[in-house]
Amino acid sequence: MQRLAPALREDNVPLDLISLIKTILAATKEISFRVSQAHLGGLMGSTLDENIQGEVQKELDVVANELFKDILLESGFVKAVSSEEEDTSVAGNPKGKYLVSFDPLDGSSNIEINSLIGTIFSIHPAPENMDADDPDMFKQAGHKQVCAGYVLYGPATMLVMTTGSGTHFYVLDRTHGGYLLVERNVQVPEETQEFAVNMSNQRFWQAPMKNYIDDLLLGDTGPRGKNFNMRWIAAMVGDVHRVLTRGGIFTYPADNKDPKKPYKLRLMYEANPMSFLVEQAGGISVTSEGRIMDIEPGSIHQRVEVILGSKKEVEACLAYYK
Ligand code: F6P
Ligand code: MN
Repeated sequence: MQRLAPALREDNVPLDLISLIKTILAATKEISFRVSQAHLGGLMGSTLDENIQGEVQKELDVVANELFKDILLESGFVKAVSSEEEDTSVAGNPKGKYLVSFDPLDGSSNIEINSLIGTIFSIHPAPENMDADDPDMFKQAGHKQVCAGYVLYGPATMLVMTTGSGTHFYVLDRTHGGYLLVERNVQVPEETQEFAVNMSNQRFWQAPMKNYIDDLLLGDTGPRGKNFNMRWIAAMVGDVHRVLTRGGIFTYPADNKDPKKPYKLRLMYEANPMSFLVEQAGGISVTSEGRIMDIEPGSIHQRVEVILGSKKEVEACLAYYK
């Protein structure tokens, strides 16, 4: 099995980006270890704080965030970082060539049940003519990403990453301490019989999504003429990983549960990196109005509707909005 750096060189990834990726992965190996020891180390609880999104921070969220941020800022490769757990961006090396946005622990409500969680990251080029402490540097569309990935802290610690030459799977080999390439150019199957959505929100959705899901539920007695199965891990990393592996559609649609917050998932460190991975694997990632990676961000914590997965199924869903 190929090691990470030679695999990246084969994809013509520039050397400084390879170094940044290695730095990110050093942080994920440490987080993977901390996650496995959390119960033993008394790190299973919540802090007394809320993050900028109004979500209660778990102790592990904070540990993972500090680890990731410190390693990145010390590396010298990044001009600034932006995290789900930070109010605004944090300046790094003014000469750094990259910006990293990250969700240090996605799915953190799964921590207390020892279930799937992961780290999501997205890398953009740093604009040269802006100050390192200017958060507006991050207002770049997803199609400008030079790398995106996530690490799943599951039964195996697994890296899924793209630098724009396909989406590849790697597994952390603890015997030598590095990630090894296990699957090159993953392809999302075009058709599927599996969907992922938090069904408890159904009464808050817009009519097109309600109608689409109703038709999936009707199975072979409805217009789709086939039965569907539902899965919901409640960690985007897990649900997207299943979609990449065996196809399906994943959505967190707009809802009117809280009129001030019509969308749940965050553009910069959830929707954009997952969109890059899904598109590089031949899938589609959109809102009901258009391609996610074409959205010009207005702020670093902006939320967005997400519909992604197998090409034909996402198209079938979008047809309900026409
Ligand atoms: O980060 C937000 C997130 O935890 C995602 O990872 C996940 O897909 C979603 O929220 C779960 O939402 P819900 O709590 O509605 O199941
Ligand atoms: Mn998250």
